[in-house]
Amino acid sequence: SLVWHDAAAVADLAEGAVIGRTCAGTAVALYRIDGAYHATADRCTHAEARLSEGEVAEGCIECPLHYGLFEIATGKALGGPVGRDLATYPVRVEGERLLVGLP
Ligand code: FES
Repeated sequence: SLVWHDAAAVADLAEGAVIGRTCAGTAVALYRIDGAYHATADRCTHAEARLSEGEVAEGCIECPLHYGLFEIATGKALGGPVGRDLATYPVRVEGERLLVGLP
């Protein structure tokens, strides 16, 4: 079952942005796209670069290291050297806070 962790303030995450947070030892990248919140693992499945230091474009995150591409909503590996999908996590808004559900 999921455990919900307080990850960030809603105000920390601008539209189209990504931020990195550590929740209970797990590196999580949080995104806001068209007003919706998403979370994925913050380690690229290729060589563990921090995706929160990458670029968000058209619903995807581009890895800063070798430009691997993942679909944010699903974690699906789309291109570049990445072959394995990213873990995704549910996000809940509670007042001014964003909570992430981790297994
Ligand atoms: Fe992300 Fe290589 S570490 S593409």
